[in-house]
Amino acid sequence: ALAGSSPQERTFIMIKPDGVHRGLVADIIKRFEAKGYKLVGIKVLVPSKDLAGKHYAEHEGKPFYPGLVNFLSSGAVVAMVWEGKEVIKTGRTFIGATNPLASAPGTIRGDYGIDVGRNIIHGSDSVDSAQKEIALWFKPAELAEYELISKKWVY
Ligand code: TYD
Ligand code: MG
Repeated sequence: ALAGSSPQERTFIMIKPDGVHRGLVADIIKRFEAKGYKLVGIKVLVPSKDLAGKHYAEHEGKPFYPGLVNFLSSGAVVAMVWEGKEVIKTGRTFIGATNPLASAPGTIRGDYGIDVGRNIIHGSDSVDSAQKEIALWFKPAELAEYELISKKWVY
């Protein structure tokens, strides 16, 4: 954290290949940005099967795991780190339920998805998973340290 500011929570948010193909990148970024969160890392990449498998390691052995890993490595994703008060929980609220048909209107999955296997976006579900996922997808030097001036009007 910058001198004089309290350390802020960070979360890992990733727009999956279906979200990129469907042109939802700007809409998704807009929601986090408009809320007042700070973007500290962003990149576009086609994940290797190895990286996709590590990201979803907690689901290894489940019937949907092979298809999930294939899907995630099938195209470009937008990987991001967002920072701010309770951003992990708020990120999950923005995203909605795992099954898009069970996601409320107004959430990202509720607004844009139908199929659980094509649910547009990933977000860390705890402080522990956020730390692991950020370390998996980003090098420390890829995360920017800067002051968001408009934060003075948010907090
Ligand atoms: P999970 O971590 O349970 O959901 P979330 O993304 O909301 O944290 O599952 C990871 C991904 O696995 C989920 O986004 C979509 C896929 N998935 C399936 O394809 N089928 C399933 O039955 C479940 C539970 C998940
Ligand atoms: Mg999950």
